[in-house]
Amino acid sequence: MSLLAATCTVLVVFSLMVCTAQQHFRHQVQLDKYGNFVMKWNPDKDHVEIQVEVRTQGYVGIGFSPSGGMRGADIILGWVDDDGQPYLSDRHGTGDKTPVVDASQDVTLMSGRRNATHTTLRFSRPWVTCDDLHDLPITSSTMRVIWAYDDAASPGRRDDVARLPYHDHRGVASLYVAGDERVNLHDDDHVRTWDVLAPNVSLPNDVDTLYWCKLYKAPRLDRKHHFIGYEPLIAAHATHFVHHMLLYECHAPDADSSHYFEQWVDKLGTQCYAANMPDSWNGCNVPIIVWAVGAKGFSLPPEAGFPLGEEHNGATYFMLEIHYDNPRMAQDVVDSSGVRLFYTPRLRTYDAGVVQFGHSVEPFHIVPPLTMWNTTAHCHSECTRL
Ligand SMILES: *[C@@H]1O[C@H](CO)[C@@H](O)[C@H](O)[C@H]1NC(C)=O
Ligand SMILES: *[C@@H]1O[C@H](CO)[C@@H](O)[C@H](O)[C@H]1NC(C)=O
Ligand SMILES: *[C@@H]1O[C@H](CO)[C@@H](O)[C@H](O)[C@H]1NC(C)=O
Repeated sequence: MSLLAATCTVLVVFSLMVCTAQQHFRHQVQLDKYGNFVMKWNPDKDHVEIQVEVRTQGYVGIGFSPSGGMRGADIILGWVDDDGQPYLSDRHGTGDKTPVVDASQDVTLMSGRRNATHTTLRFSRPWVTCDDLHDLPITSSTMRVIWAYDDAASPGRRDDVARLPYHDHRGVASLYVAGDERVNLHDDDHVRTWDVLAPNVSLPNDVDTLYWCKLYKAPRLDRKHHFIGYEPLIAAHATHFVHHMLLYECHAPDADSSHYFEQWVDKLGTQCYAANMPDSWNGCNVPIIVWAVGAKGFSLPPEAGFPLGEEHNGATYFMLEIHYDNPRMAQDVVDSSGVRLFYTPRLRTYDAGVVQFGHSVEPFHIVPPLTMWNTTAHCHSECTRL
């Protein structure tokens, strides 16, 4: 009997701890330009807990969409009424009209409140629900997240309101929602770091988007090392501007890549893929780091690492590509964001590598006078034989 009581106490204490811990969200992203729609989330084993904080007294919608539009999207819609009562429903999009309530409700409202400026809704959803008809699985790929809110007063006192006014604000973002559970790379004494940072890039104030590229050389190493993970390094003032970052391995057509790349290591960067980007940089096309808004970093599985250094079948030269998004063309933004690579002399069992499929699309594919054309790539068995 006393054993049972003790177990219950432990359970109660444990669930309290869980409740308090969940107030803190490990991920946060501003979905619109102005900070009016903020999404926070905690990925868990079977569920993801999401909180939206939106500057409105009206309804709020968030969804996962195959195309970025409403048709076929898995949408969660909610609001808080004038008495402070929250409403939330699991719906699906059928086009540019009020999303239809699903027969199977697979979201759990955890809390909802409204203050003078904001509506805040917190809910939980399984990564994969049993509703094959109208829910989309949230996978470890980049998800297209659609969002909307309306300025009108909150819509009413039931979850399943069938007709809502067309939203005043909407948008779509690409987000990495799942799978950030990195092993702690800092814990291992053998792990060393290499920071690849933009050298104070001044964002132009006359264009709203900039792809910026620069070449880097890996640290000189006396023996083989494995690259095992990374984390993004983004200055607080730059979080609104840094949209995505990629780090590519650079490989030359023949063995000695220093002949092609060494001369650029001490130079500043340039606009990516533009006329003044050196031709040889097109050889930097094996992405080993792909970061987008929402991601906290990545660690390779414990049995694998990317070899560093050309002499070890890896790469010596790397290209950092940063996509800056500056929709309001803010002035005087200087950025030195980038990535921190973790590498170790304790070699993993396997060398990691990247396989890419597809066909590059080039202007040469256009046969005049056509204005539309298809590029078709075939990957037959010879090309997948390793
Ligand atoms: C209203 O709620 C939002 C979202 O939680 C918060 O950022 C804001 O500070 C709150 N405003 C007041 C006046 O409490
Ligand atoms: C960027 O600018 C800061 C402040 O002027 C300076 O301390 C830093 O060394 C610069 N970084 C690089 C990589 O040039
Ligand atoms: C491209 O392929 C799609 C799908 O097969 C087809 O519907 C479309 O007509 C093609 N377009 C052109 C210009 O060939």
